[in-house]
Amino acid sequence: MNVVMIGSGYVGLVSGACFAEFGANVTCIDVDQSKIERLEAGQIPIYEPGLDDLVARNVTAGRLHFTTDYDPAIGAADLVFIAVGTPTRRGDGHADLVYVYEAARQIARHLSGYTVIVDKSTVPVGTARQVARVISGEKPDADFDVASNPEFLREGAAIGDFMRPDRVVLGVESDRAEKLLRELYRPINLIEAPILVTNLESAELVKYASNAFLATKISFINEIANLCEAVGADVHAVAKGMGMDKRIGGKFLHPGPGYGGSCFPKDTTALIRIAQEHGASCRIVEATVEVNAAQKARMIKKIREALGGSESGKTIAILGLTFKPETDDMRDSPSLAIIPNLIDKGAVIRAHDPQGSEEARRFLPAEVNYFDDLYAAVTGADAVVLMTEWNEYRGMSLEQVGELMKGSVFVDLRNVYEPESMTSRGFSYFGVGR
Ligand SMILES: NC(=O)c1ccc[n+]([C@@H]2O[C@H](COP(=O)([O-])OP(=O)(O)OC[C@H]3O[C@@H](n4cnc5c(N)ncnc54)[C@H](O)[C@@H]3O)[C@@H](O)[C@H]2O)c1
Repeated sequence: MNVVMIGSGYVGLVSGACFAEFGANVTCIDVDQSKIERLEAGQIPIYEPGLDDLVARNVTAGRLHFTTDYDPAIGAADLVFIAVGTPTRRGDGHADLVYVYEAARQIARHLSGYTVIVDKSTVPVGTARQVARVISGEKPDADFDVASNPEFLREGAAIGDFMRPDRVVLGVESDRAEKLLRELYRPINLIEAPILVTNLESAELVKYASNAFLATKISFINEIANLCEAVGADVHAVAKGMGMDKRIGGKFLHPGPGYGGSCFPKDTTALIRIAQEHGASCRIVEATVEVNAAQKARMIKKIREALGGSESGKTIAILGLTFKPETDDMRDSPSLAIIPNLIDKGAVIRAHDPQGSEEARRFLPAEVNYFDDLYAAVTGADAVVLMTEWNEYRGMSLEQVGELMKGSVFVDLRNVYEPESMTSRGFSYFGVGR
């Protein structure tokens, strides 16, 4: 089976490599020439555990190819996946579909024989049908079907999620297209992962509704954490007690500095716009977004209060910059909201991240000082702020950290450590919701 992946970013590259691992002949296309050159040279442009081996293995086996050229791969393809970015459109919060429609136009020009064009990007309801109109407009005699196959992988665990998904969602309305998609996903059927087949609109909405629900769980527990601080409860005990109820489930009930990343912020905003456009209300998601912004502001206040009321002239070591561990993705990371604010208030920032520093330099103010070694970062600091729960920080020597710091303030925005044990080690410890 010949598969083309348009867009070789987090989703396109992982999905392409995994389909190749399933046995398909996959061509990953990207307009970014330098990205394709790196891939052709055997370099992986993103940090994702296991991706380098997976790509290398499938390139060597002759099943995975990279190119900037739509021709001839599209003409030979049975299935073409669109996995380009759908960022927030400036000004109005809608998902920006320019890359999707540009990809559709280019696909249309090179189509030959029956082809299924599948949206893997997260796109608003109605996009698959619009892609079909774009293709027909560009090439009226094209023989094709459109389908929606939203992706649920998590950065940092992307390969496992793709290979062993909780479910595969297929929005597809022709038997011929469904047959091809089922054939492509056959290996996951063998491990009995469920495949949900539905219409185009429902498949498109499953993705937004899922992300908005997960974001809501995070904002919910963050509000409960704030209440815990006010009443003297421990949010971990509360979350554990809630999660033991199978109807609620324990996942995504971990308080922190607010959600970030390439999906939740943009997908919640886009869902609100989709609802507005169709005259439906989406008040819970609106509150989720508001609570998330407030949580980031609350973390800035927490750091300030931990420092005795002012960041001015204080040296703060930040441990972790990415929005979560095991990725170098900095998109909408809480650190991007928190660090510039601390700098504005006169703090000196010493930052460490196991994988994200290079990306972070593109987004954070030039004043940030980066260190490859976490112990170098904490040296001379008045306060340490643990921003991302990388394993490296779970395993670090607190004794050494305490000795190297100038002060003793430890703000743990991920509740990695136990308050009592930190206090007994001499730290002035602040967690979230406990
Ligand atoms: N990152 C995630 O964890 C994740 C998870 C699930 C779904 N998604 C969704 O998947 C989509 C892609 O996300 P991503 O994080 O992989 O984005 P990304 O920015 O990492 O990658 C997108 C790639 O598409 C390329 N591109 C843009 N226009 C193109 C064109 N016309 N032809 C060929 N290539 C083109 C870009 O150069 C870029 O390399 C988004 O809709 C996102 O919401 C992302």
